[in-house]
Amino acid sequence: MSFDQPSGLSVRDGARGAAPGHFMTLTITVNGSTHSVAAEGETPLLYVLRNDLKLKGARFGCGTGLCGACMVIIDGKAVPSCDVPVSAVAGKSITTIEGLGDIGRLHPLQQAFVDEQAAQCGYCASGIIMTAKALLDANPRPTDTEVREALEHNLCRCGTHHRILRAIRRAVEGEGAK
Ligand code: FES
Ligand code: FES
Repeated sequence: MSFDQPSGLSVRDGARGAAPGHFMTLTITVNGSTHSVAAEGETPLLYVLRNDLKLKGARFGCGTGLCGACMVIIDGKAVPSCDVPVSAVAGKSITTIEGLGDIGRLHPLQQAFVDEQAAQCGYCASGIIMTAKALLDANPRPTDTEVREALEHNLCRCGTHHRILRAIRRAVEGEGAK
């Protein structure tokens, strides 16, 4: 796959140490809270987030690690959660869009997306914001080229790319929190 993903995290690599077809109880940490979930080890993390933990912010798009709609941050890296077996994330720190802010206290990136009206249908937005968050955490002052490169694997079928780039620039410049 083309994502720069931590080794052993791809669903297509198989779940390390997990027997297919066998449910196991796993403890995962999402947005700072620990959860005990029963799932087959190779179940994509996305399914566990959405179906077990009812965190619907990460979206199902392609299901093959190619569109970025399901991006979450795992140990500081933006990763497509559809392509990560849940057994691979035990002990890792997972952040979803729900961990960034809420309706009364938006994260600066979320506020910037609102201010720049960067979403049309909005299906891609949470994945793009998570990719941008991982980028800004590692590189608070990225160039436009670096932003474009980071978003290379986030697709937007509505074509709002220019507004998305403006929103991220706004957050970088510190205007998103106003
Ligand atoms: S749904 Fe995960 S990358 Fe497309
Ligand atoms: S705003 Fe619709 S897919 Fe991006």
